[in-house]
Amino acid sequence: MVSAATRKNLLKVRVMDFITSIAILPLLFGCVGIFSLFKLLQYMRMKAYIRNAVVIITGATSGLGRECARVFFAAGAKLVLCGRNREALEELTRELAASRVTEVQTHKPYIVTFDLADPGAIVAATSEILQCFGYVDVLINNAGISYRGAIIDTSTDVDKRVMETNYFGPVALTKALLPSMIKRRHGHIVAISSIQGKISIPFRSAYSASKHATQAFFDCLRAEMEQYEIEVTVISPGYIHTNLSLNAITADGSKYGGEAPVSLLFCEKLLVSHRETFCSYLINLYLFIQI
Ligand SMILES: NC(=O)c1ccc[n+]([C@@H]2O[C@H](COP(=O)([O-])OP(=O)(O)OC[C@H]3O[C@@H](n4cnc5c(N)ncnc54)[C@H](OP(=O)(O)O)[C@@H]3O)[C@@H](O)[C@H]2O)c1
Repeated sequence: MVSAATRKNLLKVRVMDFITSIAILPLLFGCVGIFSLFKLLQYMRMKAYIRNAVVIITGATSGLGRECARVFFAAGAKLVLCGRNREALEELTRELAASRVTEVQTHKPYIVTFDLADPGAIVAATSEILQCFGYVDVLINNAGISYRGAIIDTSTDVDKRVMETNYFGPVALTKALLPSMIKRRHGHIVAISSIQGKISIPFRSAYSASKHATQAFFDCLRAEMEQYEIEVTVISPGYIHTNLSLNAITADGSKYGGEAPVSLLFCEKLLVSHRETFCSYLINLYLFIQI
């Protein structure tokens, strides 16, 4: 014999089961729908933001910079491609012109060649960059070199060389272009740092130090530029297979010319997976706030 109270409880459970089974699917689809809509709006906003924007990319001859050039060109940006190797940049502009992969109107890129490690060259390059379109919307400080060596064997000249290319060069270029952005109260400065700008690993001292300095400088800049509505983003990628390792310099300043040793690659992979596991939320939240 089932008591009245038990019957009432059973009825309650059945009603709850019914509501859950009916409501769970619409709720799930609703969430997926809202998320997809949010992503679509974000994508459309990004495309509109880039179209016709004047974008300066340093280190466009290779790797990440070259890929950025392709993506921004296809999205309709007005590009100024920078690097030391004019031939490589001319080849890239020919490749972009031939690509015609896009439905948006594309623009013929300009080329400006200079060495980021040469302060005098940066002054001249800045006026050349400003002459291209008359203003700058986005500056992507991407160019950089890597380094492999033990601290004990590395001359201070090598430390300085890495700092000059990865830190002082981008800082000087940014400072030189800032007045024109401040005048328009508009602009976006991007610094390509590295996961090694947050965590150092052995035998990368100069590189890691230059990226830590980059992180610190551009964090300060973000705070100082807020009043002018200029945005500052620091991007900290993990390992990407580019020529960075081939072009890295060693303790005596010679070219490394090889892939990263397995132990170091392993170390980097560890860092990346470390980042993707228990650190991922914190770092991603941090990057998200910065963007
Ligand atoms: N690949 C990775 O795993 C990784 C990870 C995290 C962060 N990053 C960062 O991503 C950025 C791009 O690196 P990447 O991987 O694309 O390497 P990459 O293929 O070696 O490209 C480096 C670029 O920087 C330019 N560059 C180097 N020294 C320069 C100088 N003194 N003056 C002007 N330009 C100079 C190079 O131009 P030239 O043709 O003139 O040499 C080249 O276009 C770097 O800042 C790097 O630190 C890379």
